[in-house]
Amino acid sequence: MPILNKLFIAGIFLLAVEGGYTGADASPELVKNKQCGMCHRFTPDEADKPAPDLFYAGDKFQKDWLENFLQHPEVIRPAGHTRDPGFLRGQPEFSPPHPALKTKEAKEMTDYLISLKILNDGPPLELGDLSKGARVRVKILFERDYSCIACHQSYNLARQPRGGVSGPSFINAGRRLRPEWVYQWLKNPKQFTDRGRMPLYAFDEETLRKLTQYIMSHQKDDSAQ
Ligand code: HEC
Ligand code: HEC
Repeated sequence: MPILNKLFIAGIFLLAVEGGYTGADASPELVKNKQCGMCHRFTPDEADKPAPDLFYAGDKFQKDWLENFLQHPEVIRPAGHTRDPGFLRGQPEFSPPHPALKTKEAKEMTDYLISLKILNDGPPLELGDLSKGARVRVKILFERDYSCIACHQSYNLARQPRGGVSGPSFINAGRRLRPEWVYQWLKNPKQFTDRGRMPLYAFDEETLRKLTQYIMSHQKDDSAQ
């Protein structure tokens, strides 16, 4: 895998220059041993990396999902990550499977990742359930008005995945993401990245909440987990 070679060389170079990985506090040994830092950034001031940023993992992910993903990784971005050097050619250099951890390592890594935050802890976002009518209206927003579906997978009426693959899939977003983070992302993705490939919108408060509710309503059936 060419990206691994390149990153490996970059990793050695960094080790030589900095005398070791210094971005992590609670669990630096595990992060270093597993070489997660070859692909992911754990602090915002590192140079760009080809996989999703993890320095706000504690804001973004639900703990149970994270612990499970680290042991049984699933594909979230079917076309690869937008920072992968081969993404625009349609030939991402990273191909699954993602490295997997053993149970004990996954627990330790999860505790560490959950501690990485950039947002101030606010009150939990109380969203409630979407009524049937509200769900139909927000589905129209998602699919027609804003064309989110062009880039993100969602469920069709038969609960089959449908939609574009250039953005992360929402198929299990309700178990994967924290609603507070989804809300903040939709409000202003630039809080998390200034190199995003998603169009910038200026939603009013009601639309922000409805879209967050809608994304959070995507959950795989327990039997399918
Ligand atoms: C060879 C590169 C590579 C290495 C090494 C690697 N990852 Fe990843 N990781 C990726 C890519 C690419 C994705 C995106 C996968 C997808 O979206 O389908 C990803 C996704 C993730 C996600 C989900 C992120 C999100 O926003 O959806 C987490 C959490 C994660 N990795 C943690 C880790 C940890 C912890 C390690 C070390 C044990 C690690 N990764 C090692 C490339 C890597
Ligand atoms: C042109 C393609 C495109 C469109 C249209 C689009 N997005 Fe995105 N979206 C992305 C990409 C790509 C990302 C990954 C982050 C990045 O690179 O900016 C993303 C990230 C996200 C995330 C964070 C998910 C994660 O797991 O990191 C959410 C939530 C989101 N989009 C919601 C929406 C909603 C709601 C709409 C419609 C109002 C929408 N997006 C429209 C491309 C798109």
